[in-house]
Amino acid sequence: MSDKPLRPMDNSQDRIHMPFIAASLLFGVLGGFSLATSLPVEALAGSLDVSWVAHAQVHGHLQVVGFATLFVVGMALKLAPRFGGRAISPPGAARWLLWLLVGGLVGRTFGQPLAEVTPFGVLTLAGAALESAGAGLFLVLVIAALSEAVRDRQPFALLIVGAAFAFLLQSVLGLWWLSEMVAERRTILGTLENAVLLHLQFFGVLLPAILGVGMRSFPTFFGRKPPGALAGSLVTWTALAGIGLWTTGGVLTATRPGDWWQWSVLGQTLAGASVLGAILVVGPWRTPSRLAKASKGLGWAIHPAVLWLAATGVLLFGTGLQSMLAREATDSATLDAVRHLFGIGAVTLAIVGMAQLILPEFASERLVRKPGGWRGPFFGTALSVAAILRGVVLLVGLEGDQRWWAMTVAGILGWVAVAVFGVLVWRAVRSHRDYLERLRQARAQSPQPARP
Ligand code: HEM
Repeated sequence: MSDKPLRPMDNSQDRIHMPFIAASLLFGVLGGFSLATSLPVEALAGSLDVSWVAHAQVHGHLQVVGFATLFVVGMALKLAPRFGGRAISPPGAARWLLWLLVGGLVGRTFGQPLAEVTPFGVLTLAGAALESAGAGLFLVLVIAALSEAVRDRQPFALLIVGAAFAFLLQSVLGLWWLSEMVAERRTILGTLENAVLLHLQFFGVLLPAILGVGMRSFPTFFGRKPPGALAGSLVTWTALAGIGLWTTGGVLTATRPGDWWQWSVLGQTLAGASVLGAILVVGPWRTPSRLAKASKGLGWAIHPAVLWLAATGVLLFGTGLQSMLAREATDSATLDAVRHLFGIGAVTLAIVGMAQLILPEFASERLVRKPGGWRGPFFGTALSVAAILRGVVLLVGLEGDQRWWAMTVAGILGWVAVAVFGVLVWRAVRSHRDYLERLRQARAQSPQPARP
């Protein structure tokens, strides 16, 4: 991995990430996390019908694509020019990208639960088509910004481009399978097809994005040498090969007869191995020694996020090996629990923790006032408990109403944590604006050097 220092940002793109982050938080709080709370409550009330399953699929899409991927897209537009040395070009493309993705999510959210009625079916497909166009545009923008680093086969660049490619692939496959769903006047995607989309979204898009940004920035935070070229490449290619096999196995299982599950299980095991490899290579168990004093408390959010990531790696790898020995596919309940453990414990916690470390808005805020030391422990605890209640209790076999109660509490904790984070982002944006304005005024008042 490169030792090159980060390059200075192009000022005209300073705020490129903010609309994506605002949209991500709105989709999370108003959509995904609200449904995460209402779905178990409805299940407790006994309404586990087709409409519940359609809303569960909408919850999944809003969380993974609306909340998590929109956040990742915003951060990638911010960081790719810094990591790769090229600005996002043309700059106006970011606005197009935002509207394509937001339009796609709105279409899918309002269309799918009523997709058997023609106008809503059309809305669902329009949403899926907009999402595919947005994902295609994102891939082009990221490749252009990171082209030099991709040519140098830098692991973070390959992982981020891989994540962007998986985003496009899941959108196109989604469009295909949603067209079949609408044509057959159904409101839910088939189980096999849906499983492919879910694994692509979690372990094709979110996992490589986290590994890419983590391998690039964690050595700085933890005061370590960046991973060597061989170790970095090994982790990268294991992750990309894993998700490639997993997806191929899933698509073949969904479209033709045969024992294709073996491909998926091998892919799953490799994906787990890549996570464990990345953690070993970066060594994040060290104290975050290079963090500024004001940010040290955030270690309480970052460390648990890494622990949940490690748990995801162990579970993917361990259940993959177990499935190979038992000669059967990993069961869907286990994979649902692992996805949630990863989605809440690693992805959501990394989003709220890393954003506060990386975003310039929070850096300006730290210049104005010292952030409360409660932040790291609060997010670390709330989201870890949510991950336990939504993921771990299912793995240990909690059944019946208790399981739905645990999920309800998990949903509330997730909702509160992301809503509080939304308020912190809003306050940080205001501090950043005040800070820039004061800087502008100070510059305007300072005497200009006399012209020769
Ligand atoms: C905060 C607590 C959360 C709760 C209580 C929760 C609850 C649920 C429930 C009840 C289901 C339906 C399960 C079933 O069909 O049996 C579900 C599915 C799902 N959830 Fe969550 N969830 C939470 C957080 C998240 C997060 C953070 C993500 C992603 C970042 C996520 C992504 C998904 C996905 C992708 C599905 C599968 C949807 C499908 O079947 O297509 N969830 N969740």
